[in-house]
Amino acid sequence: THTLIIDTDPGADDVIALLFAMASPEQLKIQALTTVAGNVPLSKTSRNARLAREWAKRPDIAIYAGAPRPLLRTPIYAADIHGSEGITGVKVHEPSQPLAEGNAVDYLIRTLRAAPEKSVTLAMLGPETNLALALTQAPDITRGLRELVLMGGAHFNGGNITPTAEFNVFADPHAAEIVLKSGVPITMLPLDLTHKVLTSPERIAKLRGLGNQAGRTVADILDAYVQHDMQYYGLPGGPVHDATVVAYLLQPSLFKGRKVNVEVDSREGLGFGQTVVDWYGGLKKPANVNWIAEGDAQGFFDLLTQRISRLP
Ligand code: BDR
Ligand code: CA
Repeated sequence: THTLIIDTDPGADDVIALLFAMASPEQLKIQALTTVAGNVPLSKTSRNARLAREWAKRPDIAIYAGAPRPLLRTPIYAADIHGSEGITGVKVHEPSQPLAEGNAVDYLIRTLRAAPEKSVTLAMLGPETNLALALTQAPDITRGLRELVLMGGAHFNGGNITPTAEFNVFADPHAAEIVLKSGVPITMLPLDLTHKVLTSPERIAKLRGLGNQAGRTVADILDAYVQHDMQYYGLPGGPVHDATVVAYLLQPSLFKGRKVNVEVDSREGLGFGQTVVDWYGGLKKPANVNWIAEGDAQGFFDLLTQRISRLP
């Protein structure tokens, strides 16, 4: 089991990841969600996290809004892929339950300081601005962290937002650099993995056929969300990036990785936001990341479908 905080920028795939996680309370003790600007501006990512909480009927989970913009770079968004509201394929509304009082960065500092040593897992599904700010203000919080599990980066097949960079890292490369140098154990689920764990019409139909509202919602989101990537990459299905983080937490045996040294190119230029992965160990630098490059796609969709079936 994990004592878990999820930092997120919903985001169509973030919403699916959040529903997946909130449907697994026996394994994931979710302390709070923290939101960050990313796929859409902060007001919308925060609203969408609240919607996911409403859909999962988990009013017990507090949601704190965090950084409204990246540390240094000009903000970028991905509304072309996630829709102008950030959850393509479904209608959004204003949920009744509000955000928690206070800022996500303060929440992270306070909670990690009070936590027993190496006790909290932080899942990160968006740009890493919130944790970078917390680490900068309070470097001692690494003590409370057990592991960071983050969706981000790209190596073998290049990026999705530039030829070299993946969106979450590109959206705040300076934050990613701070996080990767933090010394906390890190598992990364990059595009190398997520582009191998693809939807199919049958996989989406199974979710839709569950008979609950959550199954229909996930299927509606996927039907719309996968279109862009299928066309752009010529793939037979689309990736569900952030949901792989939740599957990794629930069933790590579905995945295979290698411990490697990973650094971020944070200089503006062609490689801005690129994760530089020393796959063969040529640099002889210490490994800071468990880089997940392989996964069991059918196992992933079976687990996702089973957990979504538990929701209203
Ligand atoms: C990542 O970027 C975002 O658009 C998705 O939500 C995911 O976290 C994929 O590169
Ligand atoms: Ca995301």
